Amino acid sequence: MALNSMTDSALAVIILAAGEGARMKSAVPKVLHPIGGQPMLAHVLGVAADLGAARTVVVTAPDADEVADLALSRGATWVVQDRQLGTGHAVLCAENALMDFDGDVVVLFGDTPLLTAKTLGRLPTSLDAGADVAALGFRPADPTGYGRMIVDGGNLTRIVEHKDADEAERTVPLCFAGMLAAKARRLFELLKEVGSDNAQKEIYLTAIIAAAQEKKMTCAVVEGAAEEMLGVNSRGQLAQAEAVFQARRRSELLDEGVGMAAPETVFLCADTIIEPDVQIGPYVVFGPGVTVRRGAHIRPFCHIGNSEVGAGALVGPFARLRGGVKLDDNVHIGNFVELKNAHLEEGVKAHHLTYLGDAHVGARANIGAGTITCNYDGVTKHRTDIGAGAFIGSDTALVAPVKIGEGAIIGAGSVITEDVEPNALALGRARQVVKPGRAEKIRARNRTRKNQD
Ligand code: UD1
Ligand code: MG
Repeated sequence: MALNSMTDSALAVIILAAGEGARMKSAVPKVLHPIGGQPMLAHVLGVAADLGAARTVVVTAPDADEVADLALSRGATWVVQDRQLGTGHAVLCAENALMDFDGDVVVLFGDTPLLTAKTLGRLPTSLDAGADVAALGFRPADPTGYGRMIVDGGNLTRIVEHKDADEAERTVPLCFAGMLAAKARRLFELLKEVGSDNAQKEIYLTAIIAAAQEKKMTCAVVEGAAEEMLGVNSRGQLAQAEAVFQARRRSELLDEGVGMAAPETVFLCADTIIEPDVQIGPYVVFGPGVTVRRGAHIRPFCHIGNSEVGAGALVGPFARLRGGVKLDDNVHIGNFVELKNAHLEEGVKAHHLTYLGDAHVGARANIGAGTITCNYDGVTKHRTDIGAGAFIGSDTALVAPVKIGEGAIIGAGSVITEDVEPNALALGRARQVVKPGRAEKIRARNRTRKNQD
C-alpha cells in the first residue's frame, strides 16, 4: 500500500540525478551504478512509488539518455539541468514541471539508494504536524563530507556544508541526509532567495533552511538510521551500500523461510525471488531475474542469472545457469554443468561436466557426463531437442540443429550430427578394434628403439 494514502495531501517527488559523480571516476552516470543488480536510481524511483507520489520528476544531466529512459520506464518525468550549479539549482530546474502542483514536495537524491519509504514518509507527516520544512538527518560513524544540521531550541536553524564548516561546526554529529520536504510553492520561493556565496560557488539546497529561518518559519529534523542514509559518492561507498543492501535482503529471506548456512556468502539481486524452504549453500551468486521455487537446493559455489529453478530441484555444487534457463520440478543439475537458454522438463538429470545451450530436454531424460550441445557454428546458434526419457551416453557431442527422439539411447563418446528417431540406439564413434597380445609386441619394439638411441 502506498504510504501517502494515509495522508490527504498530494505528494510529488523530485529526484536529483544530474551531478557529475566525479568521485566515481567512471564514464557511467553515477545514478546508474548498480546496487543489488539494479541502478541506484531504480531503487530511489521505487521508494518514490512506495511513498505514493502522484508525480515524480527526475533531474538529469544533459545527454543522460539512459537516465531519462529509466525515469520514463518507471512512470516518472524528467527535466535537464544544463549546468551542474548545485543541488538547490537542480531542484529549481523541476519548477516548471510542477507548475500546476500545489501539494507537498519531497526532494530525494539519486545517489542515496538505501532509503525506505517508511522513514521518508515521516517527512510529509512532519509537514502535516506544522513544520514549514522538514529535513532528514542521521548520525553517521564518520560525518566527514556531509552537511551538518545546526539545531537551536528544537528548531533546525541552518545546514552548513562540510567544506564551509568551521572546526566547531564539524564536531556536530547530526548530518543532513539530503532529503527534505516542503509545500511546492514554499520550496521554490525559498530556493530563489538562495545565492551561491560558498566554498563550492553552488546554489545549495541546504541553504533554504537559513532562508526559512529569516522568515521565521519552522524547520524540523526527522532523524533516521545511518545505514539508510548512506550517500554514494565513491566506489568505496558504492561497495558499502551494496553490503547494506545484501545484509537486508538476506535477513528478509531468512525471515521468509529460506535456509542459508552462510548467508554472508550469498549474493542476491533486488529482483531475486526465493520461495520458502529453499536451501542455499555457501558462496552462491544470484544475478538479475532469478526465481527459485519451494524446496529446491542450491548447493555451494553456483552462479545463477535470469533463470527459473523449479520446486525440489537440485543445483550444483559449481553449476552455472547463464540465463534463459527453466528447470522444471525435481531436475538435478550437478557439478560443472553450464546451462544457457535451455528448458529442462521434470526430473531431467545432468549430473556432471555438461554444457546444454539453446536446448529443450524432455522429462526424465538422462544426460551423461561430458555431454555438450554444439550449438554455435561460428555464425548462428542452433537448437538441440532431446525427447522425454532419452539417455545420452557420456562424452556425447550433439551437433545442432539436431533432434533426439523420445526414449532413444546415444552410445557414449558419440558425435551426433543427424536426428535420431524415438527409441533408437545411435552410435557415432569409431568401432573398437582389439588385437590380442599386441601390447607386449609394442613394448618390446619400444625398448629396442630406446637401447639403440
Ligand atoms: C549533499 C548535501 C549534504 C548532504 C549530502 C548527503 C548539498 C549542498 N549538500 O552533499 O548536505 O549531507 O548530500 O549525501 O545539498 N546533483 C544534481 N545537480 C547538481 C548537483 C548535484 O542533480 O548540480 C545531484 C547529484 O546527482 C546527487 C545529489 O544531487 O544525486 C547530491 O549531490 P552530491 O554532489 O552528491 O552532494 P553531496 O556533496 O553528497
Ligand atoms: Mg552525494
